[in-house]
Amino acid sequence: MTTKAETTQRLDPVEMLGERFVAAIGEAFAEELGDRRVDPLITPSKNTQFGDYQSNAAMSLAKQLKMKPRDVAERIVEKLDLGEIAEPLDASSIAGPGFINVRLRPEALASLVTELDRPGLGVEAEKQQTIVVDVCGVNLAKQMHVGHLRATVIGDAMARTLEKRGHKVVRQNHVGDWGLPIAMVTDKLMREVSAGHLSMDSVTLDDLDRLYKIAKEESSPDAKGLKAAERFSLGPKVQAELEAQVAGATENLERAKQALVKLQSGDPETVAVWQKLYDVTMAACMDTCQRLHTKITDEATAGESSFRDKLAGIVDLLIEQGLAEEDDGALIVRNEGLDPTLVRKSDGGFLYATTDLAAVRKRVQEIGADRVIYCVDARQALHFKQVFATAKRAGLARKAGAAEDSTLEHAPFGMVLGDDGRPFKTRSGENVKLGDVIDEAIERASTITKDKNPELSDEERARVAHTVAVAALKYADLSSDRVKDYVFDWDRMLAFEGNTGPYLLFAYVRIMSIFRKAGEQGLSSGFEDAELLIRESEEKTLALTLLRYPSTVAAVARSLEPHRMCGFLYELAGAFSRFFEKCQVLRAEDESVRLSRLRLCDLTARVLADGLDCLGIETLERM
Ligand code: ARG
Repeated sequence: MTTKAETTQRLDPVEMLGERFVAAIGEAFAEELGDRRVDPLITPSKNTQFGDYQSNAAMSLAKQLKMKPRDVAERIVEKLDLGEIAEPLDASSIAGPGFINVRLRPEALASLVTELDRPGLGVEAEKQQTIVVDVCGVNLAKQMHVGHLRATVIGDAMARTLEKRGHKVVRQNHVGDWGLPIAMVTDKLMREVSAGHLSMDSVTLDDLDRLYKIAKEESSPDAKGLKAAERFSLGPKVQAELEAQVAGATENLERAKQALVKLQSGDPETVAVWQKLYDVTMAACMDTCQRLHTKITDEATAGESSFRDKLAGIVDLLIEQGLAEEDDGALIVRNEGLDPTLVRKSDGGFLYATTDLAAVRKRVQEIGADRVIYCVDARQALHFKQVFATAKRAGLARKAGAAEDSTLEHAPFGMVLGDDGRPFKTRSGENVKLGDVIDEAIERASTITKDKNPELSDEERARVAHTVAVAALKYADLSSDRVKDYVFDWDRMLAFEGNTGPYLLFAYVRIMSIFRKAGEQGLSSGFEDAELLIRESEEKTLALTLLRYPSTVAAVARSLEPHRMCGFLYELAGAFSRFFEKCQVLRAEDESVRLSRLRLCDLTARVLADGLDCLGIETLERM
């Protein structure tokens, strides 16, 4: 029986040839290797003059066996049966120090591409899993900034790619909506409203953001300042000022603590104000997620507050299991090789880690996740190590009846930097608001598209500008190595040349215009089942590139590195462009060639659109 996983692999010549090489090597060196499997080291050839693929296995094997590489290569070639896949090999297939060159048979290539040309494009996984992806993670009373761009855009791209593989994906937006800082703004907002400075009905996220900063400032005692004033005798005036500041801060902090107690006990007035904070923040967050064309909706929201009734139980469980120990009034869990994890403060309050432990339990045991992926800032690496280690020891990461823990993975990302190489900020040193970034991207994209295509109606231009802007923003983020920091650069991300969102949209638009032209000439039908005739070297390169799509999706799903998809799409667009320069499509020499080429164009467009869809980028018919 052939499984679906084999479809992904069967379409990939690297995998197919690899299997044959493994068998041949095993047979040729049965005595020396026993049943050890040797990596066949198959790669696409750099120079297609010699072949389509090459195996570099002979060189590494020769080193291990202390033999001459060419002798090893000869023995492999002797046993190699490439059957219907590739041209037969002979002595001339061995090159240089012992590379083995392989050329696919044209019929084999055509039949693989034909197999790829199905509705699902061969990307489904063999085993379907339930996968939770932790995305977005905004905090109440704070504007989303460019840091949230990454958690939102990369997380959604991972989720989409896993969905393409057929997995059941559940997005979870672990909103920071509980705890002392939130109580502090709640209290501040109540005071501002009762002082008549603000009206509860018209309060905006900007107001909340401002109040948050003031409240934080007001409750941070300048204790160091006061000590210094005492030590250096800065005079009674300074000292009195600082004393008042410290007293005020202490008072504010005390009030915030009381507000937290009220929130926790469900005091209606406090809860109503908190709800206001919540509604205003989440409305803005959902609006941004939608403008960014992500599939993060209200349904994904599962904030810290939703776990508030579970925290005491989690801590009890840790105590029962002997995992938690008292430390100076607080409760900690020690995991080997890690700093202790604080799960309850000496005042009885719970922490970020406690909430994440409750979230692991929900994700694994209620949602039924086989795999939980946290798309969160790299600076939280230690936190997740602590949470994962504790959760596993406490049995929170195991589904009922399962023999193994579900997989918990932190997929960290680096920072967004400005052109000065420092964290991306406004001139006055504030975080750059994500909403402003999207606005500016649309404005810039609108100017560019006006230049490129003045014929678009205003309405269509607005739509095109939005799509191009979002593609540029997201692609710039997704195409750089996730764990590294990247430099935010307007001109580069909006360029129509190079590995950019606009370039890929344009590649797709170009194919759409071929089909529009074909339609005008009455040539746009009958290609869907046409026989594929892959003759020119540019056609061949395009076909070989297309065949890498299913394994690229699988690689992104495994490694959680969307930049691999970007690299693939960029290569595909390049291969298409070289094909189109060299090969006539609508004016091909005869009908069969025209139909075959139209089919290749159509398949390329579908792979481009599907790959962009994995990234959460919409395509356009024209731009
Ligand atoms: N709200 C958090 C922050 O801004 C991010 C949440 C990440 N997810 C989680 N399960 N801890 O840092």
